[in-house]
Amino acid sequence: MHRRIFLAAAAALPFSALAARAAAPEIRVVKSATCGCCSAWETHLKAEGFLVSSHAVPDEELWEMKVRLGLTDETASCHTGIIEGYIVEGHVPAADIRRLLAEKPKALGLTVPGMPIGSPGMEMGDEVEPYDTLLILPDGHTEVFQSHS
Ligand code: CU
Ligand code: CU
Repeated sequence: MHRRIFLAAAAALPFSALAARAAAPEIRVVKSATCGCCSAWETHLKAEGFLVSSHAVPDEELWEMKVRLGLTDETASCHTGIIEGYIVEGHVPAADIRRLLAEKPKALGLTVPGMPIGSPGMEMGDEVEPYDTLLILPDGHTEVFQSHS
């Protein structure tokens, strides 16, 4: 849609539709200031319609927060997102976050451990490493939420 046409359409939207637009999913992202792939992941989320509030903190503070939230060496990655009370750790695709918010499982949240090549924010040309998005259960154990290959 051309931008001008879109603006005209937006002007004609009833209030309820505007309110729905305002309810775009909002995610708080905590990361270290020097993390480039974290910014790339935020760009992915914004392109997917998420509102991103980005917070760069000292590494020590970041890792203290991860431990406090229940993340471990196995489940922690670079950045930590918080959305609707869920943790979104590492390079989790926007589609998986949307599914999490729709299904609302009893869980701490999602993680993509490590930083698999080809996951959102970790693109390196055509290279793609298969990876799983894991659901972190309330007891800290994980199960596969979504496989990506
Ligand atoms: Cu990363
Ligand atoms: Cu990151």
